[in-house]
Amino acid sequence: MANNKQITVKVAGRKQLNEDIVGLTLVTLDGSPLPDWKPGAHVEVQLNTGSGTDQDAVMLRHYSLCGDYTCTDNWELAILREQKGRGGSQYIHEKIKEGDVVQVSIPRNHFPFKSDKKILFIAGGIGITPILPMIQQANNEGLDWRLVYLSRERGRMVYLDRFTGYDSSRIRLNGDVEDGYCDLNELLSTCDSETAVYSCGPKPLLDALEKIHAEQKDAGWSLTIERFAASDAALDQSGSFDVVINSTGERIHIAEGHSILETLRDKGIRIKCSCRDGVCGTCETGVLSGIPDHRDSVLSEEERADNNYMMVCVSRAFTDELVLDL
Ligand code: FES
Repeated sequence: MANNKQITVKVAGRKQLNEDIVGLTLVTLDGSPLPDWKPGAHVEVQLNTGSGTDQDAVMLRHYSLCGDYTCTDNWELAILREQKGRGGSQYIHEKIKEGDVVQVSIPRNHFPFKSDKKILFIAGGIGITPILPMIQQANNEGLDWRLVYLSRERGRMVYLDRFTGYDSSRIRLNGDVEDGYCDLNELLSTCDSETAVYSCGPKPLLDALEKIHAEQKDAGWSLTIERFAASDAALDQSGSFDVVINSTGERIHIAEGHSILETLRDKGIRIKCSCRDGVCGTCETGVLSGIPDHRDSVLSEEERADNNYMMVCVSRAFTDELVLDL
């Protein structure tokens, strides 16, 4: 279950990393150490926009911690300005400045890194952010790692200075414009059963990796991904069912084409949410009976099988009824 503890931090540094990505350095107000975190972790940033309805005046956005995972002096985040987003990244780019104080969650990790023997990191664009500390850990532990960093153009790549000190033969930079599209089939055909592939990046990249992973099942390599956008399964809202609010006994019908989250919010039942795409974990809700049809990209296979929690922004039901712990 998500830990909702919040801490207050100050923006100690702000740097434009390329025309669309801004980097923020966060510290505590009194200089005390920040909580520990592990590679793959992210924090939820609370943005008090002071606009919109009460419910929407506070935007919650999730950003990977991309700095040194052994350092508790500061946290680093990198935020891509999303032109077609819902306003959170625009707000940060336009309003957040050095010295501002913001509330953030303690780190959460839905993209944990294990010290496998051989590792292939595939980062697409801003997806480099959770990968950077993973590379740091892999290198610290002397693991056999490789990175393929994909971008539309090489000039848009960020944090290249972090690679100085690493064996450059482990790193391949691929700009579509300069180098052509990376042949993922060819790249993954080099992986054997001891290889763990970790990837974060745009939906087409992650969809392609999942497809190739299914096709190359016999090769035995593992794939762990982190999504920033909804998967195809999350976008499918077919089928209808009922949910029962455990505390009141109220039964609410979830019609085809509507999510549990939006239906309950329309009825005045507030559930904390952020991405609404099944990728952040904010709307995690307890399930007391019934079987959820998990469509999120957050829960592990084991957590899905337990059926104790579900992401109500995208997940649906295999049973006619779900009783939710609300
Ligand atoms: S709001 Fe992000 S997973 Fe549901």
